[in-house]
Amino acid sequence: MPHCGPSRVDYGGVIVPVGGDTIVYSGTTLDIATLFDAHESERFDLHTRHLNEQMVRVLRTIGYDVRFCKGQGQYLYDRRDERYLDLLSGYGVFAVGRNHPSIRAALKSALDADLPNLVQMDVSTLAGLLAERLLERVPHLEKVFFANSGAESVEAAIKFARAATGRAGIVYCSHAFHGLTYGALSLNGDDVFRKGFEPLLPDCVRIPFNDLTALEQALSSRRVAAFVVEPIQGKGVILPKEEYLKGAEHLCRRYGTLFVTDEIQTGLGRTGKFLAGEHWGVEPDMVLLAKALSGGHVPVGAVLMRKPIYDKVFSRMDRAVVHGSTFSKNDLAMAAGIATLEVMKAEGVIENAARIGERLLRELSALCENYELLKEVRGKGLMIGIEFGSPSSLKLKASWKMLETASKGLFCQLIAIPLFKEHKILTQVAGHGSHTVKLIPPLIINDADCDWIVRAFDEVIADSHRAGAVWSLGKTLVEHAMRPSA
Ligand SMILES: Cc1ncc(COP(=O)(O)O)c(C=O)c1O
Repeated sequence: MPHCGPSRVDYGGVIVPVGGDTIVYSGTTLDIATLFDAHESERFDLHTRHLNEQMVRVLRTIGYDVRFCKGQGQYLYDRRDERYLDLLSGYGVFAVGRNHPSIRAALKSALDADLPNLVQMDVSTLAGLLAERLLERVPHLEKVFFANSGAESVEAAIKFARAATGRAGIVYCSHAFHGLTYGALSLNGDDVFRKGFEPLLPDCVRIPFNDLTALEQALSSRRVAAFVVEPIQGKGVILPKEEYLKGAEHLCRRYGTLFVTDEIQTGLGRTGKFLAGEHWGVEPDMVLLAKALSGGHVPVGAVLMRKPIYDKVFSRMDRAVVHGSTFSKNDLAMAAGIATLEVMKAEGVIENAARIGERLLRELSALCENYELLKEVRGKGLMIGIEFGSPSSLKLKASWKMLETASKGLFCQLIAIPLFKEHKILTQVAGHGSHTVKLIPPLIINDADCDWIVRAFDEVIADSHRAGAVWSLGKTLVEHAMRPSA
C-alpha cells in the first residue's frame, strides 16, 4: 500500500519512523498529575511573576491561599487534604460537580476515538447531536449557534439581533452582567467594569431592571434590535417581579424587538428548571447558554434561537462562514455537553436543585428572625442571595458605618472569610459594593451539605453580632485594601 504521509514524525523531540498507514507515536508522556504535584507550591510565585499579581495579593490578604489540590463533586481539598464545600462552583460551571466520572469518561472516549475534530470543511456530528438535544429541552426554538464562552454567546446574540432586525439598538438592565468582551461589556450594568475601557458599543441603552414602563419607553422608538435580560440577575441575585418577564416578552413583540434571555448562569437546571424563564412561562427569541453546558471541563457557549433569525445571518452560501470561531463546536466541548445533559437526566440533577434549593431557602430565611444584620434570603433553586443591611441597635451601627464608609459592601467579606476559614465553605460576594453573599453550588449538593451550610451561616452571622474578631478583621481588611502594591 502506498504511504502518502510523512515517513518520520517529530513528536516531543523524538523522531519516530512511520510504517504503512499506522502512525506510531512514542516519546515522552507528559504526566500532568506529577507536573502539578511538583509545582503546585509555586503557584503564587508563578502568578505574581507572570500573571495577575493583584489576585495573589487578594488571596493572601483574605487567607484563601490554602492551595487547593483536588476537586471532586461539590468538594475541594487543600494541600492538607482538608475538605471544603464549594458554593461557587467555578462561577457556576460545575453544576454536576467537579470531575464527574461520566463526563470524564466521555472526554476520554472522545480523545481515544481519533475523531476528525475541527475539519472545518465538514460539519460536526457531535455538534449536531448536542444541538438536537438542547432543542428538545427548548422546543419553541429551532437553531443553535455554538461559541466558546458566555461572552462570545452574548456577542453572537448582538450580531444576530442586528442582522435579523436591521436595527442597531440593544436594551439592557442596570446591574446586568453579560460578560467582559466589548459587546458584552457594553451591556454591563455596573460602571466598575466599564470604567477605563470606553468607548463601548454605541446604541446600547440601560434601563432599570423590573421596570416595564422604562422598557416600553426604550422600545417605542422601534430602533431596538434586542432586549437582553438575565431572568434572575446574577449580581445581587435579583429576582424578577412576577409579571416582569412575561410583560417584557409582550412589549418586545409589540415593538418588533427580539426578546433575548441570558441564561448563561441561570440555565441548565440552576434554578430548579432547565431554563429559569420556564418559571415565568416565557418563550424568548434567543436563549444564551454557556458555563455548565460542558460540565465545567471545556469552554463552551450556545445561542438557541428561532430559525428566521439564524437564516438572516446565514442567508446565502457565500455567507456560510460570516460568523463563527475556530474552536467553536470542537469535539471535546460537544462531547462534554452531550455527557452533561445525560448526567443531568440520569441523576435527577435539576430535581435535586429544586428540592435542596427550597430547603436551603427556607432554613436560611428562618435565620432572619434572629439577626438584625440579616435582611433577606432570596433565590430560586440553587441560586441564592443572602442579603445583609444596616443594623438597628446602636452597638452595631457604629461598626457597620465604619466599614461602609471605608468600603461599601465590605461587611459581606466578614461573613465570607470566616465561612471559608472556620467552616470550610467557599462563597462569593454578589458584586462590587454588594451586601449580598451568593450561593451557586453544584446542583448535586445533598442534605448533609445543606446542614453544613445552615449551621455555618448561623454561627458566622451570630459572631458578626458580637463585638470582636469579625469586626477587627474588618479593620485589617480596610488597612490592606488601602495599601498600594508592594
Ligand atoms: C449571566 C451571564 N452572562 C454572561 C457571562 C459571561 O460568561 P463568560 O465568563 O463565560 O464569558 C456570565 C459570567 O459570569 C454571566 O453570569
